[in-house]
Amino acid sequence: MSDQPITVSTLAELKSKGEPIACLTCYDAGFARVLEAAGVEVLLVGDSLGNVLQGHDSTLPVRVADMVYHAACVARVRRRALLVVDLPFLSYSSPERALDAAAQLVQEGGAQMVKLEGGAEQVATVRRLTGQGVAVCAHLGLLPQSVHRLGGYRVQGRTAEAAAAIQRDALALEAAGAGLLVLECVPGALAGEIRRALRIPVIGIGAGADCDGQVLVLYDLLGITPLGAQPPRFVKNFLTGRDSIRTAVGAYVDEVKNRRFPAAEHGFS
Ligand code: KIV
Repeated sequence: MSDQPITVSTLAELKSKGEPIACLTCYDAGFARVLEAAGVEVLLVGDSLGNVLQGHDSTLPVRVADMVYHAACVARVRRRALLVVDLPFLSYSSPERALDAAAQLVQEGGAQMVKLEGGAEQVATVRRLTGQGVAVCAHLGLLPQSVHRLGGYRVQGRTAEAAAAIQRDALALEAAGAGLLVLECVPGALAGEIRRALRIPVIGIGAGADCDGQVLVLYDLLGITPLGAQPPRFVKNFLTGRDSIRTAVGAYVDEVKNRRFPAAEHGFS
């Protein structure tokens, strides 16, 4: 494994070589060291920290200050992986608000790329951010910040019309300057079509194997789900049958890199 820092260009090269990209969420320095040592290429300080760290039932209460705090914890020890940080709910409700929030994530949190949820309605914001030199990761499919509008955490893009809309949005976000796309909970066939239509890498979560890379919420991979809650279908507990977090994360990287994860049972049609 090369120890050269991973950049947006490295990820594009991995896509063109057909080498899957291993990404995980990460919220603190201790896990950042473990994940980097296992070869994770993208550390995502996701606003899922609202659920897994803060105990909320959605990501909506997460503030920019929370993201800055956790991003800085990871940035302090990160050496190689690309650090992507979520813009939280309503922090990018206009291009100017987005620029202000992104400035905090980059300057105080050490983010190398910021992620935002949404399609055509975010094109102006992506243009504004990238125009100022901020690298942007788009996020389509299931948008957790829109849980109330969507009526729950449901698979998206199942009708021909909805699938075409996601595909149009993906192309528009790429044209606006997005350097990476996260696709969450969409049928595997749709993810494959989008992956082939885009030049930028597509990272899937619940989007099947035909993506340029995979991401999971770290706590899901370790089987830390709230008591009584059923983990989503796309989750695999990599700690089962293993004796340490290091080996579990290593197994995840190995299975992503060798296209053994996700299996058909983790996807949707
Ligand atoms: O916040 C998060 O963890 C995410 C992943 C689900 C991709 O956005």
